[in-house]
Amino acid sequence: MAESKNGRHAHIVGWGKYVPSKVLTNADLAQIVDTSDEWIVTRTGIHERRIAGPKDTSASMGLIAAKEALEHAGVRPHEVDLIIVATATPEYAFPATACLIQDALGAVNAGAFDLSAGCTGFMYALAVGAQAIQSGAHKIVLVIGSETLSRIMDWKDRSTCVLFGDGAGAIVLSAGNSSGGILSTICRSDGSGGDLLIVPGGGSRCPTSHQTVDQGLHFIKMNGREVFRFAARVMDKSAREVAARAGIDIGDVQLIIPHQANLRIIRAAARALDLPEERFFINLQYYGNTSSASIPIAICEAVEQGKLNPGDHCILVGFGAGLTWAATLVKWGAPKPLHEMTRFERIYARLLYLGAGIRSRLMRALLRIESALPLPRSSDRNGKRKK
Ligand code: UT7
Repeated sequence: MAESKNGRHAHIVGWGKYVPSKVLTNADLAQIVDTSDEWIVTRTGIHERRIAGPKDTSASMGLIAAKEALEHAGVRPHEVDLIIVATATPEYAFPATACLIQDALGAVNAGAFDLSAGCTGFMYALAVGAQAIQSGAHKIVLVIGSETLSRIMDWKDRSTCVLFGDGAGAIVLSAGNSSGGILSTICRSDGSGGDLLIVPGGGSRCPTSHQTVDQGLHFIKMNGREVFRFAARVMDKSAREVAARAGIDIGDVQLIIPHQANLRIIRAAARALDLPEERFFINLQYYGNTSSASIPIAICEAVEQGKLNPGDHCILVGFGAGLTWAATLVKWGAPKPLHEMTRFERIYARLLYLGAGIRSRLMRALLRIESALPLPRSSDRNGKRKK
């Protein structure tokens, strides 16, 4: 997949994130399972992670991140054409978490769907969103990665529960005629490794039953060592490939934002690419692995910390369950200073979201009234009622 050939380019024009306030440190975890701060830090680089509160869900966290991203972009909800939510922990099997966020935003002109590609989900969603813009089908696409992994964690399994965390990130993609934005993308998969990282229960193969719950099949199961090997194999290769596709020398890339799973995996990629570790954005020490949310959260923090500036070339690279992996080369072009909302605009945005809530409740009430009414009977060609 290469840059648009028809003059339409997909630019990242807004970004937002949300992480729950509850911090779970390695010392806290050592009270729950047989582990230690020393083991977790040396094997993963993680010091702490955020854990969803009782009211936090993938939709509620994704919604906050989305509102912030729209605010940065100066985009109103009704201008959004498409909402894609990458998540391994959707609110329900269906309806899609994306539809819940669409409703809460009042994005009345948007299509909405969820995308499942494990921790690579956000990268896949970004690719789909960018292509929807480059093809001319859509102008504004909201791409969200949101996860409440703590709800599918086996808190007795030390080999997984120390790794993951909760949070959400979002970006706004907008069509533009000026070059830049998403320059190239690759998305790959190898389903033969599906069982290396899996939630076995609760799907059509193994529907939820007392037995599946007793066996803990609704929790994440992972062969960490094999996933580690796979990740170390694909990270540098996909970064090189995506740079070559865009015709950019990897040495001219100012920043690499990798999936935040393990510091050792990132260091292995840095060595293989012959790049200094400082060229990689790393925040996994604070959040652990937030799956689909890790890259968009990292984008937000890289911008906040001044590590991603207009004109910079940046590679985003992720891997995860499936097995899946993907990379994207972005020419960062977001204007500085960002669109700062005036007080009036803030009040207006709040009113819009309030209106979206009222609209949603009204629509539900209307549906209930409608369902209480008798169904209209079909008419024959002459307009007479059929008996
Ligand atoms: O987004 C993709 C998601 N997944 C990943 O990115 C995971 C990739 N894999 C990894 O990050 C690493 O494989 C882990 C961090 C999961 C594990 O590190 P490792 O160096 O591969 O350790 P290991 O699995 O080879 O286990 C070494 C030892 C084992 O003990 P024995 O068999 O050598 O006696 C484990 O039982 O460490 C033990 N162990 C722990 N010890 C203390 C496993 N988890 C823990 C723990 N605390 N939390």
